[in-house]
Parts: sequence; structure tokens; C-alpha cells
Amino acid sequence: MIPQSFIEELKMNCDIESVISSYVQLRKRGRISTGLCPFHSEKTGSFTVYPESQSFYCFGCGAGGDVIGFIRRIENLEYVEAIKFLAQRAGMNVPEDAAEDKTAILKTKILEMNREAARFYFSELTKPNGKAALDYLLGRGLLPKTIKHFGLGYAPNEWTALTDLLASKGYRYEDMEAAQLSRKSNKSGRYYDVFRDRVMFPIIDLRGNVIGFGGRKMSGDGPKYYNSPDTPVFKKTKNLFALNFAKKQKLDHLILCEGYMDVIAMHQAGFTEAVASLGTSLTSDQCRLASSYVEEAVLAYDSDEAGQKATKRAVSLLDEVGIRTRVLTIPDAKDPDEYIKKFGGTRFKKLIEQSAGSTEYELSKISAKYDTDSPEGKILALKEAVNLLSGMRNPLEREIWAAKLARDYGTTKEGILSQIQSKIKRKAKAENARAISGQSVSSTTFAGAVPEKLKNPAAAAAEERLLGSVMRNPDVLSTLSTELSSENFTCELYRLFYEKLLSTLSTKAEISLTLFGEDFTLEQQNIIARLAHLAREHQYSSEDALEAAKTILRLKDKKSDKEIAELSGSELAAYIEKMRKAKK
Ligand code: GTP
Ligand code: MN
Repeated sequence: MIPQSFIEELKMNCDIESVISSYVQLRKRGRISTGLCPFHSEKTGSFTVYPESQSFYCFGCGAGGDVIGFIRRIENLEYVEAIKFLAQRAGMNVPEDAAEDKTAILKTKILEMNREAARFYFSELTKPNGKAALDYLLGRGLLPKTIKHFGLGYAPNEWTALTDLLASKGYRYEDMEAAQLSRKSNKSGRYYDVFRDRVMFPIIDLRGNVIGFGGRKMSGDGPKYYNSPDTPVFKKTKNLFALNFAKKQKLDHLILCEGYMDVIAMHQAGFTEAVASLGTSLTSDQCRLASSYVEEAVLAYDSDEAGQKATKRAVSLLDEVGIRTRVLTIPDAKDPDEYIKKFGGTRFKKLIEQSAGSTEYELSKISAKYDTDSPEGKILALKEAVNLLSGMRNPLEREIWAAKLARDYGTTKEGILSQIQSKIKRKAKAENARAISGQSVSSTTFAGAVPEKLKNPAAAAAEERLLGSVMRNPDVLSTLSTELSSENFTCELYRLFYEKLLSTLSTKAEISLTLFGEDFTLEQQNIIARLAHLAREHQYSSEDALEAAKTILRLKDKKSDKEIAELSGSELAAYIEKMRKAKK
């Protein structure tokens, strides 16, 4: 436990605006600041920082919290780690006992086990049982030094080889399971290896830690690759395979591709700026990660339809973080790995040099799609092209492409630009409308976290109003506490929130979002942040809190029609009397 007093001092030293502005470009708007939300993709700034309450809230995705919550999300840290992170930033020392943090210990254990596992898999390649795997890798054109450089390996075709090894080194089975290296059998209750009879690709983070594995089957059916699920040290969507190697040089671009083998083949051929998303389609977190290294990416996805689709998606995701893209067309091979094997690195380098900017690539695809000799075809193609250009943020760039389109299609640049303008306006309107109805975005989060809300919308609404009002008017709490006990809550999560608030009466802790930082998940914190936000919007007062408390009590006692029908005469009289009182 970190003492409350320390956390309050920490918050004093970590002004939320200045912390956030090292991640998000903020614009001052009166008493608040806004910017592009770092937690979801957007083009208009729904992300808002409130210096007064030292909190943030995004209208778009519903993420919200205090400075600690922000750091947890953006740095992917647990509560205590986030506090340490901020303390370090502020030059403060975290009180000693907090350093014995359980998750930190588990993380260290997992990293140690991963390293042991990688060593083990690598050494298996040199054993008789691993010969087939070694031959497989060599057969795919990898040199021994490449295999060593990437630390590739083989998970033997046995049930407990790694599990036994880790146990003999003193690791606990539960920790192996947390590392996703072993799994417990439902039948026997014994632990067995997750990776068996697979060629292994260790995934290494920027600090050189082995954080997970990809395992490829050499033959047979079933999924070709199996990748470690997320663990406390591994978030697939936030890492790029081989970025640890790529960032060792001065980069002017990254090559983004789909597979482990593509990356490895490229590195072997000298393209050490190649990275891959990890068995998932590219995420905006991965784009942001890339954007701290380069301003340009070359997309080298598979030449099949899925690869082309993924390319399109990647172009717009990368554009959102300000990365320019060029798209590689790979002729006569299905992916970079195959191309390099067939035609060699020199030809591949040519491909990269010739790769068209993404806009040129997209436009050429559009004009190929229609018969642009006919007026109808021209109109359709232009329409689609205008739509494409309206997604560009740089007006100068739009103008250049509009000029080119005008030339290609025999029309005027001004005409095209005005079409683009009206399209942009329409898009902005639609996006605004979506932001305003932001309600709906988070109602899905609510549904999971507050299941009672569906059946008891009125009670849930009153509880929400009450919690929000208290967040805004902490002084009302002592009065409230005598009127309303937490048992009267219908929604479990809201009851917990209320109890947390009540606890401040004795602990004297300050009422702010920080209160919920330790005992609640980030999703739950989003919800309380949202309630605080709504209270701010509606300017809820102490009276609203007291009103809401009355409603909660009334709804709590209210019986269904069926229940009323079953009451005896005297019970009914008592019930009516009670309802009448509650109304007052
Ligand atoms: P090779 O066949 O070894 O050349 O694989 P590749 O790297 O070319 O893979 P492919 O283009 O088939 O897929 C690209 C990436 O998607 C792989 O590197 C994996 O990360 C991932 N992937 C492919 N197949 C599977 C699968 O069956 N399951 C999962 N989870 N991921 C897969
Ligand atoms: Mn391949």
C-alpha cells in the first residue's frame, strides 16, 4: 500500500496538463485543453483535459481518469508501476514497502522464464530431435548466423520438456501459466507445455527482454502459427516484431510487413529496418510506436487480396499518426520472403526505391477499376478519388493531387477542390454527430460492467446522478451518508463506488478520480470518470445528490405489480404509506 499522503504529494508534482502534453499535443481552450485522443483513432479532438479537477476524459471512446490512470493506459503499467513512473519523473522517492509490488515481481519472473525458454528452444535445434526443425529453417534459406541473431529455436514434440526444465530451476507452475508457457490440464491437473513441435520465434522488446513467442508448425493441419497470448509483460497490439533490431540504426523509414519470416528474410538481405505486426492486423498503438522512430513507412504486405486490404487499412491508420506511406507492389511472389528468395536483395531494393506513394497507388487502383474513357466511368472514378483526397489532412497535398487529377481526367483543379471541400465538411459533421451521441459509445462498456442497468434503468440512472453529484460536490457526502446506506444500490459497481466515497469520511482522503485508482479496473475507472464528466456537463448540485438519493430509496422499495397483487390487506396499507412518505 502506498500512503495516500504520498499520492497526493505526487499529484501536486505531476500536473496533469504537463504530463499529458508530453504525449498529446494539447490546445488551450479557456479553462480546458483538448487534443487528439491517444487511446482511439480520431481526426477531431475529443480528448479533454480538465486542469481544475486534474482529470481527463475522451468523448469519443469514454476513457477517463486522473494522471495516474492516464499513465497506466499510455505506458501500459499497473497502478503501482504508474506511481513509480510518475515519481521518477517528478524526482520523488516512493516509500519503501511499495517497492515490493506483487505484479512487478511476477513480471520479472515471467521475463526470466521467457529467457530460459528461449535458451532452451535455441539449444534444442542442435539436438538430434531438433534436426528436422534446423533443416526446415536452413531449407527456408536462413543462414546459421541469422538463426542465432534472431534466437530462433525449436519446441520439442514432448508434453513437459519446458515445464519440467522450469520446475527444476525452481519456478512455480502458476507463474509458468501466467507466462503462457505452460497450461494446466483439466483432466489430470498437471501442467504441460504450450508450445510443442514448433519452430520458435522469440519476440523481444526494445529493452532486449523476451516478452513472448510465435511458434510455427512445420507440417500437418491446424493453425500454422501460434502466438503467445497477452501476459503481464506482453501486449501483442503494442509491440512490433524486430523493432528491437531495427531501431539500432538511424532510420528514415520502416518497412512494415505481415510475417515473422518476411522480416527475417529482409534482415538477412540487409533490410534491417523491417518490422511486422504480431499476428494481428496493424493497430493504432503500433502506429504510434512506429511514429516515435520514423515519419515514413514502406508497406510490404502480401500480394494476395487480404494483403491488399490490410495495406489500405494500414495506410489510413498510419496517416492518422502522421506517417507517410509508400506501398510496395511485389510482382511474381506472394510475399517479400518469397520475392527475395526468388530474385535477390538487389531487386528488392529496386522495388523499394520504385514504390509509389500511397496516394499514387490508390489513385492508380481507382482508375484501373473504371472505364475512364466513358463519361460515366470518369465520374465514378473522380467521385472515388475525391473521397480519397478528402481524407488528406494537408491542404497543400490535396491541392497537388487535385491538380494531377484535373490533368488526368480533363477537368479543372478548382472543381475538384470544391468537391473535396464539401466532402470534408460532410465528414466533419458526421463525426461531430457521432461525438455528441458519445453516450452510445460507452453504453456498450456500461452493459458489461453494470449489467443491472438493463433491467433497472431508472435506478441505475439515479445512482449515476448521485455518484456524479458527489464527485462534483464532495461536501454533500456527510449528509448523504445518514440518508442513504450502500445496501440500497441496485447496481453492484455503483454500490462499490459509493462505498469508496463513503470511506473518505473516515480516512479524510480527497474526493477525486484518484480515489478509484487502486481498487478498480481501468474500465471501471472510465465509468466513474464518465459519471463525473456528465455531472460537470449537467452542473449537478448537492440538491441533485439528495434528490437522487430519494429516488434510489423509492425505487428500492417499489414492488412490481405482481408482488403488490400478492400482498395481504394490511401489508398493502403499509406499503402505500411507505411509498407516500418516500415521495415527500
Ligand atoms: P510462412 O508460411 O512461414 O512464410 O509464414 P508467413 O510469415 O509468410 O505468414 P503468413 O503470411 O501466412 O501470415 C503472416 C503472419 O500472420 C504470420 O507471421 C503470423 O504472425 C500470422 N499468422 C499466420 N498464420 C497464423 C495462424 O494460423 N494463427 C495465428 N494466430 N497467426 C497466424
Ligand atoms: Mn511467407
